[in-house]
Amino acid sequence: MGLHILGTGSYVPEKIMTNDDYKAFIETNDEWIRTRTGISSRHISTGEPTWYMGAQSAKAAIEAAGIDPSDISLVIDTSVTHDYHTPATACIIQRETGAVNAACFDLGAACAGFVYAMDIAHRYLKTESGAKYALVVANEQLSKITNYEDRSSCILFGDGAAAAVVEYDENALYSSHLGADGTGAKYLYAKHTEFDPPFEEDAEKWKDIEEKKSGRYGHCLTQDGKEVYRFATQAMPKAAKAAAEKIGMTLGSLDKIIPHQANIRIIETAMKNMKLSMEKAVINIKNHGNTSSASIPIALDEAVRSGEIKRGDKICLVGFGAGLTYAAAILQY
Ligand code: UT7
Repeated sequence: MGLHILGTGSYVPEKIMTNDDYKAFIETNDEWIRTRTGISSRHISTGEPTWYMGAQSAKAAIEAAGIDPSDISLVIDTSVTHDYHTPATACIIQRETGAVNAACFDLGAACAGFVYAMDIAHRYLKTESGAKYALVVANEQLSKITNYEDRSSCILFGDGAAAAVVEYDENALYSSHLGADGTGAKYLYAKHTEFDPPFEEDAEKWKDIEEKKSGRYGHCLTQDGKEVYRFATQAMPKAAKAAAEKIGMTLGSLDKIIPHQANIRIIETAMKNMKLSMEKAVINIKNHGNTSSASIPIALDEAVRSGEIKRGDKICLVGFGAGLTYAAAILQY
């Protein structure tokens, strides 16, 4: 019934932006950012596009897995910051990695995207005859959709990518729970790139959740931080508990939880709600901030490479994001 992670990889841009660097354009300070979010610095792209970061992390994951890329049957990319409307970023990842025999598509579940994609990969590998491996890539250049005039959100986000090569293994541990609450769509969104369709007659009539915004940052992420915070502290425990219950497991028997790195206070509250000590949480928010769908796999890759997560460990990947979405997957590394 299970999923086995064969290899992981990650990539972050060289440029580091510290909390103090924001003082050049917004009124803020290191102490506020650190105590309210747990973030000290984040990596920011100086030009490397989303696809490039994803491809670098994918190559590292393929190398760690020790497989031939032509044996990959599926590539799923989870970015919310694609470089193109079309083609799918997954197709560009295929071009870059040599996964020539793979079906390729993108999946949009925001910061929960990596967990959603792992689950879809599991189902695909289980049912597709002859399918060997899947490559899941989470790559984000959030600096493209960050409003650097909004001090309550711009300090949160960073850029980066990570990927995993997985295979279906009938004997491996696996359970998941995916969900969403579309009524919360208005609490976290970025409007599609501004575009003026030539035959549009009444743009106002079709206006949905977005605030009226224009200018340089009109397409950027807008959030109601308090609503997202409230949702996150409940949704992550809910998803993790539901995944555990499906296989008659208690969260206490997990070795590590890898939560979406959005805010250290969200993680602390969620861990408390799951009755788990913070020692069980993999945390890297201090040096990365929130990298949306890339945040869980970057944390996973760093934990694997540092030895914090070892072969055989029972882990839970759990996230939430715009949608509002939430997802958890339990597996054995
Ligand atoms: O992937 C999901 C993405 N989103 C999230 O995860 C967001 C979840 N929400 C959060 O993490 C928190 O709500 C924030 C970090 C966004 C905000 O923290 P908060 O404790 O809810 O702060 P607040 O918005 O209530 O603001 C408190 C004060 C305000 O000042 P006044 O009105 O009390 O005078 C803000 O103007 O802090 C001020 N403030 C800042 N001060 C210094 C807001 N941003 C900053 C800043 N530096 N960067």
